[in-house]
Amino acid sequence: MGSSSHRYHAVCIPFPAQGHINPMLKLAKILHQKGFYITFVNTEFNHKRLLKSRGPDALNGLPSFRFETIPDGLPPTDVDATQDIPSLCDSTSKTCLPHFKQLLRKLNEFASTSKVPHVSCIVSDGVMSFTLDAAEELGIPEVLFWTTSACGFLGYVHYRQLMEKGYTPLKDESYLTNGYLNTVIDWIPTMEGIRLRDLPSFLRTTDPNFVMLDFILSETERARKASAIILNTFDDLEHESLDALNSMLPPVYSVGPLHLVLNHNVDNSELKQIGSNLWKEEPECLQWLDSKEPNSVVYVNFGSITVMTADQLNEFAWGLANSKQPFLWVIRPDLVGDESAVVPAEFVAETKDRGMLATWCPQEQVLNHPSVGGFLTHSGWNSTIESISGGVPMTCWPFFAEQQTNCWYSCTKWGIGEEIDNNVKRDEVESLVRELIKGEKGKDMKEKAVEWERKAKAATVNSDGSSYRNLDKIIQLLCTRRA
Ligand code: UDX
Repeated sequence: MGSSSHRYHAVCIPFPAQGHINPMLKLAKILHQKGFYITFVNTEFNHKRLLKSRGPDALNGLPSFRFETIPDGLPPTDVDATQDIPSLCDSTSKTCLPHFKQLLRKLNEFASTSKVPHVSCIVSDGVMSFTLDAAEELGIPEVLFWTTSACGFLGYVHYRQLMEKGYTPLKDESYLTNGYLNTVIDWIPTMEGIRLRDLPSFLRTTDPNFVMLDFILSETERARKASAIILNTFDDLEHESLDALNSMLPPVYSVGPLHLVLNHNVDNSELKQIGSNLWKEEPECLQWLDSKEPNSVVYVNFGSITVMTADQLNEFAWGLANSKQPFLWVIRPDLVGDESAVVPAEFVAETKDRGMLATWCPQEQVLNHPSVGGFLTHSGWNSTIESISGGVPMTCWPFFAEQQTNCWYSCTKWGIGEEIDNNVKRDEVESLVRELIKGEKGKDMKEKAVEWERKAKAATVNSDGSSYRNLDKIIQLLCTRRA
């Protein structure tokens, strides 16, 4: 489809981290398929990283799907450096707006002299809410895309009350370890029985000026100004949280799992090839999985941000070795902070016949591979929804943000997860991994995961599915000029 046939121009802007860029790119591709001209905005830093991981042509786009950049406001660093999330939240919220407005002006000037349509709507990450000011100035609709689960978002939306009731900031450091985090919070609608430790982790601070507390308070407050809010989830899975959110905010729509919508409804192969991995993928993992028995492999991956200690890496390694199960373990080069993430040589020697190590993999394909029987995960929302979509049960070791809430829901509400103690020990890893792949509980979780997979597909692949219908509503809204 050439640019002259497009009437609407959506500017899509993710928060500059892997777990946000991936779902936003999927949504942008779906909107493109529905006829929108797309401008996708990365930070300059991530633009360089994508060129490095995916090659010099990676961001050429299509005539009607273009990439642009704005600075993230942080001092320049090497492209391999790990960006600090609190600093990134602070700098994007304080510095990006003028650059974003300038970009919109440039796009509209170009539109005046070409067949490209003027910018007609903005689809912004929920935690890039400065973009709402730009939409208001132009009088165009803006949809906020929170890339979290509905339950995680509901947790964030209650931060104000948690502060007012004195739960956070914590009185002193001892509250992190004295059992206080086990306090049951019984007043958040639909979350009966949840403990403080299961709510998004930024409340575990003694610092009243902790940047992430302020950031979440301000971003959830500003969410009220959006034309609508969308989430990468589906009604059957999270209708209680979605209903609770809907009673507090502008209309909240579930539109996921987006990768299922994309795979079933977008047939443009050039578009499909535009990828968003900031690390270089190792597709050999898939051939290795081909050589394994169905449902036998435990897939281990802690996402794009988790950092663990060398001791924790060691405990995971020996737990996996002792479980005797085949495993595919993805270890990012920066998984152990400043130290290099190296597993013991004896572990590699002992497991070489049944283990594969990689630094980054095509995760969606891995989770759809018939050999994968379980997922040892940090419970990031993308990983969780991708695992559900592949019918794969999980062993959860949440790291930060709303991963704790995703873990609690996976284990207690959806019946597809079991949690590993934060103070990870090899014996527990060994027994939970065995249980996951071979045990009775693992079998039960697998059955439930397959049932959720069926419901996720029903929500997305047919035109009467709930996510499919919600996407249509969002598209209508994006095509309407603001009153
Ligand atoms: C974090 C939070 O966990 C998440 O809940 C929040 O909403 C966004 O930030 P992250 O650590 O990146 O995310 O984890 P996750 O949300 O699971 O996203 C990781 C993404 O990278 C997934 O889409 C996954 O498929 C992809 N990935 C990861 C790969 O393609 N290959 C890999 O080897 C690892």
